[in-house]
Amino acid sequence: MGLFHKGTRGQSCARIKISPFKRLLPTCAHTCMSIASKLSIIVAVSKNGAIGKNGHIPWHISEELKFFKSVTVGHTVIMGRKTFESIGRPLPGRKNIIITRNENWLPENFREKFSQVRILCNIDAALDMIHGAAASERFWAIGGEEIYRQFLPYAGEIVCSVVSAAYEGDAFFHIPRTFARQEKLHECPQFISHRWVRVNDAVEADGLHTEVSTHPVSSAGTFA
Ligand SMILES: NC(=O)c1ccc[n+]([C@@H]2O[C@H](COP(=O)([O-])OP(=O)(O)OC[C@H]3O[C@@H](n4cnc5c(N)ncnc54)[C@H](OP(=O)(O)O)[C@@H]3O)[C@@H](O)[C@H]2O)c1
Repeated sequence: MGLFHKGTRGQSCARIKISPFKRLLPTCAHTCMSIASKLSIIVAVSKNGAIGKNGHIPWHISEELKFFKSVTVGHTVIMGRKTFESIGRPLPGRKNIIITRNENWLPENFREKFSQVRILCNIDAALDMIHGAAASERFWAIGGEEIYRQFLPYAGEIVCSVVSAAYEGDAFFHIPRTFARQEKLHECPQFISHRWVRVNDAVEADGLHTEVSTHPVSSAGTFA
């Protein structure tokens, strides 16, 4: 049985507009802290917040791909089924976890080609796995929009690359005000990357820009 029972899971928390970090049960707060210390999000966004269009990332910046690889290699990456299909193969040098609601979904030639891939049928299974992992393990939620939205309330850190142009999109990402911008990790003419960390337990009605307490870091939540 999973750790996330009715009334203590992220979905339930979203419905009653309370961050999972503000649970009533001490065990749950402990669980959330345990997950946050191991779970990060990595994302590349355009200046207007777009991350995808028609199932693909609307830009191709090889330096950004190299940066993404340097951050995630050696760790576990978690992605939605649509992002996996858009990449078309497991990411090498990383454990790949794919989230799908379809229990029967299997990529073609799965056993031969994709033996290092693990398929999970819900977010709770992934959260249970992260909670049970050693403190030294690191999990990166790598998209897309649906996956970011569901893992965001549990993540302790975001690595966000902002691409220096606006793009049309049908998938978007915004950093909640519960995160504050920290150090610059990479800068080049095409994009700039920062690390963001969770700074408070603000109420997250929809996970985005709805905190009730004010944090002194005014740049949090913007791509400025
Ligand atoms: N710029 C970036 O950094 C970046 C990174 C990654 C992706 N992207 C872009 O983001 C877009 C894709 O985002 P998306 O939101 O459409 O798709 P997605 O998040 O990649 O995948 C969505 C799929 O994940 C599965 N899923 C989601 N929540 C689940 C849950 N709670 N339980 C079980 N399965 C669940 C479902 O698969 P089933 O339908 O199989 O049930 C769902 O259809 C693409 O344009 C992609 O290129 C951008």
